[in-house]
Amino acid sequence: MQDDCSRLVSALFFKQFLKRPFQIASIVPSSKALVERVAGKIDFSQPRVIAEYGPGEGVHSREIARRMCPDSNLLLFELDRAFARDLERQFSGDRRVRVIHDDAASLPHELKRHGIDSCDYILSGIPFSILKIEKKRALLQKTYDALAPGGSFIIYQVTNELKQHATHFERAESEYFLQNIPPMFITVFQKTPPLDHHERGPLPGANFSVSAHRSA
Ligand SMILES: C[S@@+](CC[C@H](N)C(=O)[O-])C[C@H]1O[C@@H](n2cnc3c(N)ncnc32)[C@H](O)[C@@H]1O
Repeated sequence: MQDDCSRLVSALFFKQFLKRPFQIASIVPSSKALVERVAGKIDFSQPRVIAEYGPGEGVHSREIARRMCPDSNLLLFELDRAFARDLERQFSGDRRVRVIHDDAASLPHELKRHGIDSCDYILSGIPFSILKIEKKRALLQKTYDALAPGGSFIIYQVTNELKQHATHFERAESEYFLQNIPPMFITVFQKTPPLDHHERGPLPGANFSVSAHRSA
């Protein structure tokens, strides 16, 4: 049953890729290993507000929903109608999850609409590298503004080009993750609390470190 379900969602993924290759940007969903690695960067020990940009068929969303506390909120922003409908079906019984069939850029509006002040984590699988520079910068600014102090923006991307644009964030840590087709950079951008920021003084750009992850 689980296998049938996985095959069906992967078939949907491939079909949507053929329709909109630049928007979907991958022919297969993230691997189980990548999903676990990304989820491992989130502290689920207390209720969280988590937004996800580009959940696709929901491979990360299902793992996040499985791990998060009952009072958490998960907002899924998906541009593709077929994926959004399928996500609504998958999470219809879970009151913690909201599916928003819209651009990730609608995050501030959606937070306001749902009476949510800020996010603890924002996760992104959208193909940032193909966005026009103005759209990329505007989305990064909205993402930074929507995060609570101490919050993190976590991305998985084929290239690590976003680091040169994500100068809003005070800290960033990247790893090159090989257990996915194709291999991905996973980067955690952090918005430091104001006191920490004040003590360290303003930084001209993100402070980066990169490591390679090769084993399980
Ligand atoms: C590479 S797929 C990643 C899917 C899934 N997160 C995974 O890891 O398998 C990118 C997804 O982002 C969606 N997407 C692209 N641009 C978007 C945007 N601006 N706002 C919301 N979703 C977007 C696409 O429709 C697609 O489902």
